[in-house]
Amino acid sequence: MGFILSTAASCSLVANDRLHILETDAPDYAPGLVASGRLPRLSVATTLTPASGSPVLQIIGVHSRPGHGDVPASRVLAAKAITPGRLPAGETSFCPNRQGIALAWITLSDKGSQGLRVDAAGPAIAETCSASLSISLAKGHILPDEPAQLKALLVDLALTQGFDLIVTTGGTGLSPRDTTPEATLAVIEKRLPGFETAMLLASLAKTHHAMLSRAVAGTLGQAIIVNVPGSPKAVRETLAALMPAIPHGLDKLRGDPGDCAQA
Ligand code: MTE
Repeated sequence: MGFILSTAASCSLVANDRLHILETDAPDYAPGLVASGRLPRLSVATTLTPASGSPVLQIIGVHSRPGHGDVPASRVLAAKAITPGRLPAGETSFCPNRQGIALAWITLSDKGSQGLRVDAAGPAIAETCSASLSISLAKGHILPDEPAQLKALLVDLALTQGFDLIVTTGGTGLSPRDTTPEATLAVIEKRLPGFETAMLLASLAKTHHAMLSRAVAGTLGQAIIVNVPGSPKAVRETLAALMPAIPHGLDKLRGDPGDCAQA
């Protein structure tokens, strides 16, 4: 379903330029595109294509804006330009298209969140997933080992932003501040014990210490959430075991009616 966005003045777009798409006019978000009425539900990684031409924008963030006074609550979409071009002043009709897998990773590290340690595990998640999956958007976060913050971010990434695959790294062990599995269990709807077993079996083949990880996996909305341990080596070893099942798992989660018994 297409929709119309308008801009007061024509703007030229350079690849990776950021702009906001607003449901209602708000002068505090410039440069911006304003929707005529309510936008359709658009998740991250969706590309927007004008009636004539190729995709020009990709949604990279979805945020809700609280209402105030006569202004109703609305959404703000953060978008980036994916091809250079020019948006003419006035109205442009766009068609949304969603392909590939939107990946979010979250590094749980007290030191990393304070800038006291360089995060190598988060980027290793993006590298490992990109090597096996069709990743259309990858976005990373670093949090302290605070379960309330992790729960809120998991819910936002899965249910508001629409990420497909959310991988956390760190905080799965026995240290007093290791609470990633507890925070994850508090928000997931369907647990994926097969993912947990696959990671454990692959990890035990590498190190006896694998049995010290309490990593869990499950689904929330249409997202698969996976915990992996906190070192880049452990990220690669655990995720490698899951890659073959992720695309089919996401298809099933989105309601694919295909009969697996025929496969
Ligand atoms: N799994 C794999 N595949 N490779 C590893 O190096 N390290 C283990 C374990 N699982 C490891 C692994 C260690 S040493 C610990 S303490 C636990 O994961 C918990 O790690 P975390 O607290 O960083 O999540």
